[in-house]
Amino acid sequence: MEIMVARHAGFCFGVERAIDIVKDAAKEYSSVVTFGPIIHNPQVVGELTEAGVATIKSLNKVSKDMSVVIRSHGIERKEAEYLAENAGNVIDAVCPFVKKAQKAAARLSKSCDYIVILGESDHPEVKGIVSYIDIPYKVIESAEEVDALDYMEKYGFLAQTTQSIGIFESAAEKLKKKCSELVIAKTICSATEKRQEAAIEVASKVKVMIVVGGKNSANTTRLYHLCKEICPHTYHIETVSELRVDMFQGISKVGLTAGASTPAYLLEKVREYILEVAR
Ligand code: F3S
Repeated sequence: MEIMVARHAGFCFGVERAIDIVKDAAKEYSSVVTFGPIIHNPQVVGELTEAGVATIKSLNKVSKDMSVVIRSHGIERKEAEYLAENAGNVIDAVCPFVKKAQKAAARLSKSCDYIVILGESDHPEVKGIVSYIDIPYKVIESAEEVDALDYMEKYGFLAQTTQSIGIFESAAEKLKKKCSELVIAKTICSATEKRQEAAIEVASKVKVMIVVGGKNSANTTRLYHLCKEICPHTYHIETVSELRVDMFQGISKVGLTAGASTPAYLLEKVREYILEVAR
């Protein structure tokens, strides 16, 4: 059996950076917590908890004796303001690409009549991005949703960093016909683009595709859906324990990829399992 691993898979720069920031903070300060999971991977978050870095979900838990690390996906503007006033120390681990999207939202908010964001409205990153908008806006999940929008003089358009570039481009084309002027901020990150391209390339050549990563990870779920469209036998798993031998019976080529928040060792364990099955 041949195993094809996507050219770009696993940890991205923003995730590696966030984990390094947490680890450095844990060495330097005594009571370090992250506000929300630092990245969307339960295994990595579990390891940090064991190392003494807890995840807090509510601002009520914040106190002056804590060093609070802001997660890679960012937080809402009012939450950042609250932390600045109430935490002992605030350590910023927000991915620079997410910061760029937040800044783009604030900029478009000053110059447009209405802003459209391609993303998942209940995702923390999107909640953070829209908190920087002071004018009417709408979060859409598909290009088709543009059809229901009114005609405007000037639309601003941006995306959650982990969205599909193809959907972003087709939504932008539709939006152009709904206004006199469209200002586009390209906020999909390069790591996402590379992982999507590489996953599609592999999925088009195999009979079974395995996508490894957190079920709560937007970029991993996106990879899963993109691969599933091309390769119907695509599975989204968090760890090797979710694999079964029968998934690979009679299969000659298996594809593998992992989301940007998936550590290399989880992908490697999956590869080892498949090699064992193939023997
Ligand atoms: Fe940042 Fe993109 Fe990774 S937004 S956290 S580099 S997936």
